[in-house]
Amino acid sequence: AVEAKPAALPRNGNGFPAGFVWGTATSSYQVEGAVKEDGRGASIWDKFVRIPGKIEDGTTGDRANEHYHRYKEDIALIKELGCKAYRFSVAWPRVFPDGDGKPNPKGLDFYNRLVDELLKNGIEPWLTLYHWDLPQSLEDRFGGWRSTETCKIFGDYAAYVAEHLTDRVKNVFTLNESGRFVYFGYGIGIDAPGLTLPQADVNQIRHNSALAHGLAVQAVRAHGRRGTKVGPAENIDACAPAIDTPENVRAAEIALREMNAGYLNVIMTGRYTDAFLKYAGPNAPKFTDAELKIISSPVDFLGLNIYAPQNYVVASDQGGFMPLPIPKSFPRMNSDWLRVGPETIYWVPKLAAKIWKTDAIYISENGASGDDVVRPDGKIYDTDRIMYLRNYLAQLQRATTEGVPVRGYFLWSLMDNFEWVYGLNKRFGLYHVNFDTQVRTPKLSASFYRNVIATNAAGA
Ligand code: BG6
Repeated sequence: AVEAKPAALPRNGNGFPAGFVWGTATSSYQVEGAVKEDGRGASIWDKFVRIPGKIEDGTTGDRANEHYHRYKEDIALIKELGCKAYRFSVAWPRVFPDGDGKPNPKGLDFYNRLVDELLKNGIEPWLTLYHWDLPQSLEDRFGGWRSTETCKIFGDYAAYVAEHLTDRVKNVFTLNESGRFVYFGYGIGIDAPGLTLPQADVNQIRHNSALAHGLAVQAVRAHGRRGTKVGPAENIDACAPAIDTPENVRAAEIALREMNAGYLNVIMTGRYTDAFLKYAGPNAPKFTDAELKIISSPVDFLGLNIYAPQNYVVASDQGGFMPLPIPKSFPRMNSDWLRVGPETIYWVPKLAAKIWKTDAIYISENGASGDDVVRPDGKIYDTDRIMYLRNYLAQLQRATTEGVPVRGYFLWSLMDNFEWVYGLNKRFGLYHVNFDTQVRTPKLSASFYRNVIATNAAGA
């Protein structure tokens, strides 16, 4: 059981808004395992992890957390935290082994069981349609996201999922972090499918992912229950002013729009910015007005994955922005990319709400990896993760106190899992997982988060 008892009384006045949605998140390939069971087809990750040298520790998601079989136990952990919501993703190749064609009822059944068990425990299911496990068959037949054929098929898959699950699932995220899977998967080859294509292709693939998002939004509207809410979950390129002065805040606002012009800005506004097209030059994506219309289908919320500051900016002489280099000595968690800049989670939603005029933002992911040590008595005192979370949550609370419309927060992750290129080397969980025995043990951060939820406040 989780150690510390939650404080007795909610804080008055300085907590999060009433009804704030507290959750945790995972994704299918990272936790499910059971990759060959009940008719699941192969995904690009099943193939990619077998290429020697691609995964740091040589592991795969074949077994991962065995969540496919242990989901009830895992839902009990979510309940123990007091979470009101759980963000999971559907493995497309479980539901459609080839991506299209005949659905696999056993695949869908798993998500039926998962959703029912969540609801039975008073936890709202928040479903992600795509968290990177593209059916291998679509990669083989169409070149995956290189082809708009995959976008159309994704729309059909989204329609099917909406039809069968939105009687119980009220919130749907379309694609998780297009910015990452496009660039890492097709640009620099460190994620599946592991390609290093020219920039023009990468830009076209990013455009296709935006199109896929738009088609999914339309599919959920057309096939989901009335009132189902839908939006993206994007790893926004996080820009913050280096110093809090009006001209630098203005510069950060321009930076946030321009650095996210290839995905978030186009889906929220229906156009590529002039600066984006000018910068891309001959590498700019080819598109039609009809596509831009689909891409910018109105969404109900904006899901933002915010971990680390990407760009601290200052105003440039020309009235634009200048990103500053980030010094080597900048504080980090135990991943190089995981810089600790808590005010990012204040500035980014605040500026995003202004730029894209949205009244509903969810932090669809935030969290940290650390060098978790299991002590001889079995306890894990992850004060580094607690420090990270406490500071980020305090800044998020500051945003909501100012009226920034952040309505919920999903902590990455419920439990340690298969962290893509790092394999099992990076641990982001509130629960430690022993991958030999599959035993889950709460870290001290689980108690911390439980207390945050119980008090509806970030704490001091
Ligand atoms: C996000 C992803 O980029 O960050 C998650 O949506 C991922 O799936 C998390 O697990 C941590 O990233 P990484 O690269 O350390 O595994």
